[in-house]
Amino acid sequence: MFLCPKCRSKMSLPTCSCGYTVPQQNFIWQFSDMPDMVTEGDGDKYVGYEHIGESYSGNRRYVIEEKDTLFAERVSELTGTGMLLDLACGDGCLTVPCAANKTKIIAGDISNKMLSILRQKADCHKISLDTVTLCRINALEIPLAAESVDTVVADSVLHLISNPQKVIAEIWRVLKKGGLFLCRDDRPGKRQKEANKCNDSANILSDDTNTLYNEIVNTLYSEYWNKLKEYGVFPTKYSWKFNRDAFCDDLFADKKIEIIERGNPYEIPLKDGLLPRFSARGYSDQVDVPKELHNKVLNILLTQFREKYGDGFENICYRGLEDDLVITIYTKAGTP
Ligand SMILES: C[S@@+](CC[C@H](N)C(=O)[O-])C[C@H]1O[C@@H](n2cnc3c(N)ncnc32)[C@H](O)[C@@H]1O
Ligand SMILES: [Zn+2]
Repeated sequence: MFLCPKCRSKMSLPTCSCGYTVPQQNFIWQFSDMPDMVTEGDGDKYVGYEHIGESYSGNRRYVIEEKDTLFAERVSELTGTGMLLDLACGDGCLTVPCAANKTKIIAGDISNKMLSILRQKADCHKISLDTVTLCRINALEIPLAAESVDTVVADSVLHLISNPQKVIAEIWRVLKKGGLFLCRDDRPGKRQKEANKCNDSANILSDDTNTLYNEIVNTLYSEYWNKLKEYGVFPTKYSWKFNRDAFCDDLFADKKIEIIERGNPYEIPLKDGLLPRFSARGYSDQVDVPKELHNKVLNILLTQFREKYGDGFENICYRGLEDDLVITIYTKAGTP
């Protein structure tokens, strides 16, 4: 079901009939020799997470979140005994819990580093990857034959690619007839809306719960980018406003939406969430910020925050209610 990187004909791993053997590195099949990211030139651009790596999830990189387990359960159910493609699987927040359900998965990402964190996460939870084929692939040119997988998930990646339409066309191509493209989105939950309307209803959130947190985060973002602008450095952003629904509604035969309600209260301090990731240039819009310049600007801002909010400002928490999980299921026309 794979396509040979050399002659483009159908092949099974590891060797094509043309004689080419797909190289393996750290148990990851190397289907693509494209760069980890492309942010210049005339062709399609994308932000791979090779150098974001461990900063992406920081000290939570081996955690399997409840929302990931919930999504994985549904994805495994919908995939059944078929094959799931987890495109741009990153550090495996979906692949790992789906592997625990023994789902057959092709987990592909352009970053070997992210794929290796996926392996470590599985290891850490003693989850076998026997049903998983790990591949370094480019989502813009998926090395799979047409109509070869039953379900595809491509979470949080379309906004990182300058040509998301091409990725969705690829997803459509590799899906079998009747196959499903499963998308996960967040939506503020019912309890969040209730709490916003009536401060004492859930006694959880009031309007000023996150004032300080928001003030710091907004200042961090706006002043960071304002200062970098003076050096001619701008955020790297591609398709953040891409309308996936409009594009998929035309391409797919059917669309269904499922909601998994959540809404438990949670809190996260700056020092465990945003701050370490931001400080390590772990957000995709920071990929083209030179390290020394980043450190210089960041230090100015952190000094300002310490002066204004005190040394312990990093312990200030964001308090909220978990978003509901929204699963959009697009179906490709035809019967399998
Ligand atoms: C924000 S992370 C999302 C990871 C995972 N799907 C999740 O939901 O946590 C984006 C991932 O897309 C990968 N990526 C970016 N451009 C890609 C491309 N052209 N082909 C394959 N993967 C790509 C990055 O390396 C990164 O692992
Ligand atoms: Zn070949």
